Amino acid sequence: MTVSITQRDADALGGSDSILMRQRRDHARLDTMISRCRAEDVGDDELDDLWQDIVQLVFSHAFAEETVLWPILRRVTPGGEDLTRRVEEEHQAINELIARVERSPGDPRRATWIQQAFALIRQDIRDEEDELLPHLRDALDDRTLRRIGAAWEAVRATAPTRPHPGVPRRPPGNALRGVPLSVFDRLRDLAPGTGPLARRVSLTITGAVVAVGAVVLLVRSARRRTRA
Ligand SMILES: [Fe+2]
Ligand SMILES: [Fe+2]
Repeated sequence: MTVSITQRDADALGGSDSILMRQRRDHARLDTMISRCRAEDVGDDELDDLWQDIVQLVFSHAFAEETVLWPILRRVTPGGEDLTRRVEEEHQAINELIARVERSPGDPRRATWIQQAFALIRQDIRDEEDELLPHLRDALDDRTLRRIGAAWEAVRATAPTRPHPGVPRRPPGNALRGVPLSVFDRLRDLAPGTGPLARRVSLTITGAVVAVGAVVLLVRSARRRTRA
């Protein structure tokens, strides 16, 4: 029987740098921001900032899952195919809802779509913490969980930060089409006057290429381990 990672401490999850603890921290941040968005005393400016932060975190987090985590889960877990397909469908639905919200600023259905997106994000968190991530804990040792954590973090740091419902949810299509889009997303995210633009863009491109290379090596090594 799988035990939710919410019920285990950091030592049991491979330490604070493991993929499981990194996932839990992001999920907790998302949950806190969603609760704040729903608070009665939240102002319009704060709501706008929260929405941007949620969108950026949701898509970079999910892209790194689709690129790094779910291919490994499919290799190490019987039933991984069905489990990952379910969360990929949730990611796709979140992409479509948020894309609709962003391109329809005056639509009266916007508030409903936002609440639907929040509900799906929370459902995705529950599915991952209660079902998918415990399988990684069962299949992999602490050192591997930390190595996957570092690779996931590297990809997340250079991943797309906006909805792209037309991009495939699986490698290699997601990396081939998503990585170039991340450059444009991060250009849009840049606040004016925060630093030399060209340098930040070139750092993003370099980081994305390095991160995808690291992931290819990691998935190959996980494949070798499961064959051994
Ligand atoms: Fe997650
Ligand atoms: Fe997810």
